[in-house]
Amino acid sequence: GLDISALLKTTGTVTLDTGFTNTASCESAITYIDGDAGILRYRGYPIEQLAERSTFLEVSYLLIYGELPTAEQLGEFTNKLGMHTMVHEEMRRFFDGFPRDAHPMAVLSSGVSALSTFYQDSLDPFDPEHVEASTIRLMAKVPTIASYAYKKSIGQPFLYPDNSLNYVENFLRMTFGVPATPYDIDPEIAKALDMLFILHADHEQNCSTSTVRMVGSSNANLFASVSAGVNALFGPLHGGANSAVLEMLSDIEAGGGDVKSFVNKVKNKEDGVRLMGFGHRVYKNYDPRAAIVKKAAQDVMNRMSGPDRLLDLAMELEEIALADDYFVSRKLYPNVDFYTGLIYKAMGFPTPMFTVLFALGRLPGWIAQWREMISDPSTKIGRPRQIYTGAAERDFVALEQR
Ligand code: ACO
Repeated sequence: GLDISALLKTTGTVTLDTGFTNTASCESAITYIDGDAGILRYRGYPIEQLAERSTFLEVSYLLIYGELPTAEQLGEFTNKLGMHTMVHEEMRRFFDGFPRDAHPMAVLSSGVSALSTFYQDSLDPFDPEHVEASTIRLMAKVPTIASYAYKKSIGQPFLYPDNSLNYVENFLRMTFGVPATPYDIDPEIAKALDMLFILHADHEQNCSTSTVRMVGSSNANLFASVSAGVNALFGPLHGGANSAVLEMLSDIEAGGGDVKSFVNKVKNKEDGVRLMGFGHRVYKNYDPRAAIVKKAAQDVMNRMSGPDRLLDLAMELEEIALADDYFVSRKLYPNVDFYTGLIYKAMGFPTPMFTVLFALGRLPGWIAQWREMISDPSTKIGRPRQIYTGAAERDFVALEQR
């Protein structure tokens, strides 16, 4: 009942909350997290049940439209996505302009941003048909753009989507397939990737999602808002953590596999080094997604490549950290990305693609949050205040007197 913002306005008070550790930016009915208890639910459904029994498209529908789809609704959603997987032919050429060693996240965000130029008939945030069209186009085209970003980086031709395949299989084929050559999809691998996408699909007001909402609060269109979210995810403290974990593990291995001395380095904060894939702003307990991913990592490794030295190192790191007072006292546990990179590597993805995979998974969450924001009459343009710490008033000094 207390209108805090009205109160702050009348008292002239401004709160300083760097990093928004304790400030809610919105009300939301999408995702529930209890960080102390390690609970995550999408629209009320526990993440463990969704990971085990649902599919990524079903979960996307749930997040975006609020309820699990009926068989008919799911069929319709799947068909609509199938009709929009291709990107405009001119857009394919857009990729030619980037250097080959461009990071695929940079290519992805540019590609998503470019959708505003190619699909100008779906940009009005207040026209439900436009919102629906941009929703379907994003869900359908982002996997295509993501695979093209990868193909570009290895100098291979792009593959057109094959809509007889399911969402994840189609993405795998466009990424790893070669034109005019049959590509055998391992259904277990497709299923594991589908499950990882489910785990990443939403996480309430994280950095990238808050960015999507912030940009959208100016009534920017969905493509523009989501491309900003991709850029926010690019950073190593957010989506970039999954590749940073693998780089960390590889460095430890290259240095002889001395996990204990690495942990000491982290504890002594030498060169600001952190245990990547550990810690979370909200979870002060085991990230429920990390527990699911850890098991999947063991399964995928067994299937793909047999015992893996980096997986052993990761488990040793986890064990040492969870028994160490530095990590225990700060409530630092593995987050979702501690083990995902190992799975992606075993699937054949190069490290820079890991964060792109996170973006593919997070996409329905960004869309759902943007739609909730735009349809909420209480939404106002995001405009934080500040505490000014600069110079007091002073007089201008002419150039020749400085
Ligand atoms: N390794 C070592 N120490 C850490 C770590 C870590 N991974 N994370 C936090 N700490 C320490 C900090 O040094 C700080 O210690 P201090 O009180 O002695 O200064 C304390 O724990 C609190 O850390 P903050 O940085 O204040 O916590 P914050 O909530 O701001 O940061 C974050 C959360 C960014 C996730 C942080 O834990 C981190 O950098 N982790 C590594 C990167 C990572 O894995 N990111 C992925 C996040 S999940 C996701 O995007 C899916």
